[in-house]
Amino acid sequence: METLSQETKEKKVFMETFGCQSNVLESDHVTGLLLKNHFSITPIAKEADVILFNTCSIREHAEHKVFSRLGQLGDWKREKEGRVIGVMGCMATSYKNQLLERAPFLDMVVGPDQYMKVPQVIREAAGTGVSQVLADFDPVYFPENDPRRLAQPHKAFIEIMKGCDKFCTFCVVPFTRGREISRPTESILEEVATIAQAGVKEVMLLGQNVNSYGLGLNSKGKGITFSQLVKLVGEIKGIQRVRFMTSHPLDMPDDLIEVMATVPAVCNSIHLPVQCGSDKVLKRMNRKYSVAHYLVQVQKLRSSIKDLFITTDLIVGFPGEEEKDFQGTLDLLDEVKYDAVYSFKYSPRLGTPAARMLDQVSGEVQDERLARLNEKAWKQASEACESRLGKIEEVLVDGPADKTPDAYYGKSRQNRTVVFPGKGYKAGDVVKVKIESHKVANLYGTTI
Ligand code: SAH
Ligand code: SF4
Ligand code: F3S
Repeated sequence: METLSQETKEKKVFMETFGCQSNVLESDHVTGLLLKNHFSITPIAKEADVILFNTCSIREHAEHKVFSRLGQLGDWKREKEGRVIGVMGCMATSYKNQLLERAPFLDMVVGPDQYMKVPQVIREAAGTGVSQVLADFDPVYFPENDPRRLAQPHKAFIEIMKGCDKFCTFCVVPFTRGREISRPTESILEEVATIAQAGVKEVMLLGQNVNSYGLGLNSKGKGITFSQLVKLVGEIKGIQRVRFMTSHPLDMPDDLIEVMATVPAVCNSIHLPVQCGSDKVLKRMNRKYSVAHYLVQVQKLRSSIKDLFITTDLIVGFPGEEEKDFQGTLDLLDEVKYDAVYSFKYSPRLGTPAARMLDQVSGEVQDERLARLNEKAWKQASEACESRLGKIEEVLVDGPADKTPDAYYGKSRQNRTVVFPGKGYKAGDVVKVKIESHKVANLYGTTI
């Protein structure tokens, strides 16, 4: 055992993370496991003995980045014996063995439910040079934060469920992450309580579809609903802010709106991806709601929650999207006036029904629509930001501001970035800032 520790102490791991918050959380989890197993972590790829990519398959572009990184590493690998290259994340489960065909020098392909084995697989790869592919799903494995090695001292992601059963026709997640499974409630509450004791003040509860948390657990007679879970997390000592994502607009429960409105720790922000403002396209996407249903949800949220910060995801150029469908999306923006919009060009994904639809939209049309969409979304986001001028925001400090000397930045309860001058603050401090100006989506002010 001792010799192994000595050996691995010299192994430096560089990890690059792509994709969503689940990957960020899981990279932190793997980092924790590696440190516990006597590896060290380096932020400089050139100094590493092991290079790991935690990958995303959501759009072609995300995969391209990884394939091009891998393409550059053949020489690096040959230069020194014992070097290890690995792919984790959603490309591991979507491509499995095929990745070894694309990049023969790859040593390990490890999917999200197999991360416990990463330290051991690195050791074996360095020792034997034999490539391994571990991409099976495991219904009981959930990544956790290590309270002694938190990536940030004051806020953390918590995985409350995994997988997805919604099967939107454009989306690869049900295939890369498998069936939807809720993590047992006690395990979530225990993790939050432990990290709260270690100083964490804000948690973000993560799942592809958090509103259906507890469905599988409920059928066994021992589960609770998502709304109840959010309330319980919000009552844990030390937790001052609770956020969650992603809520699917189909099953947004009324009691969740009530919890958001009444439990003090729960923040006044919600990410509610609409994807598109045309009923015809929503149907083809298999989103299972109409624009009218979505707008009712938004109206209910807005009327119950003060100063609600609302964001969305939109896809432009989905197969069969005509100009009038796209116009529906622009009209929806005018109706909702989002605080922020994450917009994407539709990207065909292998094995998904939308990729087989015959009426794909050309790249030029997609580009043109995306530009029009973004112009409107930016204008509205900027106006929403302007509405905060003169307000006093409670800011949870993240650290020193990058571009402004002698200043700090943090997040308001709505989740807007706030920059303010000051000295000696540390991550996790809570300050009150009076907002005096804004630049695009960032707020600037002074502490009071
Ligand atoms: N579970 C979340 C979404 C996770 S994926 C939800 O249902 O809202 C994040 C976003 O990526 C999606 O909301 C969608 O807007 C976008 N996306 C997913 N698949 C895509 C594809 N094939 N092409 C373009 N954007 C896609
Ligand atoms: Fe993908 Fe739809 Fe599931 Fe979200 S709800 S992860 S978009 S299949
Ligand atoms: Fe990407 Fe997988 Fe997340 S496909 S968006 S890393 S769940």
